[in-house]
Amino acid sequence: TVAEPERSFEAAIAADQRIEPRDWMPDGYRRTLIRQIAQHAHSEIIGMQPEGNWLTRSPSLRRKAILMAKVQDEAGHGLYLYSATETLGADRAELTGMLIEGRQKYSSIFNYPTLTYADVGVIGWLVDGAAICNQVPLCRSSYGPYARAMIRVCKEESFHQRQGFELLATMMRGTAEQRKMVQEAVNRWWWPALMMFGPPDDRSPNSAQSMAWRIKRHTNDELRQRFVDMSVPQAEALGVTFPDPDLTWNAERGSYDFGDPDWSEFMQVIGGNGACNVERIANRRAAHENGAWVREAATAFARRESTKENA
Ligand code: 3HC
Repeated sequence: TVAEPERSFEAAIAADQRIEPRDWMPDGYRRTLIRQIAQHAHSEIIGMQPEGNWLTRSPSLRRKAILMAKVQDEAGHGLYLYSATETLGADRAELTGMLIEGRQKYSSIFNYPTLTYADVGVIGWLVDGAAICNQVPLCRSSYGPYARAMIRVCKEESFHQRQGFELLATMMRGTAEQRKMVQEAVNRWWWPALMMFGPPDDRSPNSAQSMAWRIKRHTNDELRQRFVDMSVPQAEALGVTFPDPDLTWNAERGSYDFGDPDWSEFMQVIGGNGACNVERIANRRAAHENGAWVREAATAFARRESTKENA
């Protein structure tokens, strides 16, 4: 017979209820949540680097203030998600070590370089747009702390996406040079944005179990399709095209057909051999090492304060 705690866990999942930190849960459920949420948090933290490259190069104070707010939000999302892993018993310092030693992943998208200022707009529009497509369903993930974290994150992501689209719309009303810069950035970011949703469903080892446990509510391909269908009208409104000759409306399906991303490139990038992987991790390692004295000082201060209180 199935033990009582296991039965009530299965019943809660079947009834689409939330699993909370104090509830019994299978080790595998805990493990895959720590894996996914930690890598989600790593993505937010590493994701600050590509855009951070343009903080001092923004063309106006307004653009700089917006970008500063967005990068700050990403840091907050990362810390918020590390807190969610701690409710599962993970240790934040250990997770940072795993990221720096390449034993945990972060989103492939952040291993591409930000070559022109239009990249800042395209990242907001397409990368945060893809992140929203992926994160809105996660607001209904079966694990309570993760789902609740996503509600706040999604609200801030919609500002990220809107500021990116508005930045591009402004450039598209500019000179021919600016319009060319936008189209060139779209051409570089479109396929990597589609890869953010993960490998095709028939090559996604974690999806079946994550769907059964209602951690994932849609498959990788379903969300990728949703993102394509959402993005094409926006591209038309902007006056840009996507670099995919197979992108066509399929009236029968009521969706766009589109070409196949280069999955060998994807495997290279998530294997650590993308354009910027070494630089991104080196920067993260340096920040961690150079920041050690701040953590030590804060810990010493907290310890002194707590002994004062207990004196
Ligand atoms: N980048 C890096 N690794 C990826 C990946 C990507 N785009 N897509 C898949 N992978 C990895 C998976 O982590 C898994 O490896 P692992 O077992 O070592 O973790 C392997 O490839 C196979 O993929 P699966 O589809 O089997 O794995 P999942 O079921 O975990 O699905 C996922 C992958 C869809 C990314 C899922 O983990 C997920 O939804 N994660 C939460 C969302 C997230 O991490 N988003 C990051 C976007 S960037 C961001 O949010 C910042 C925003 O502010 C811009």
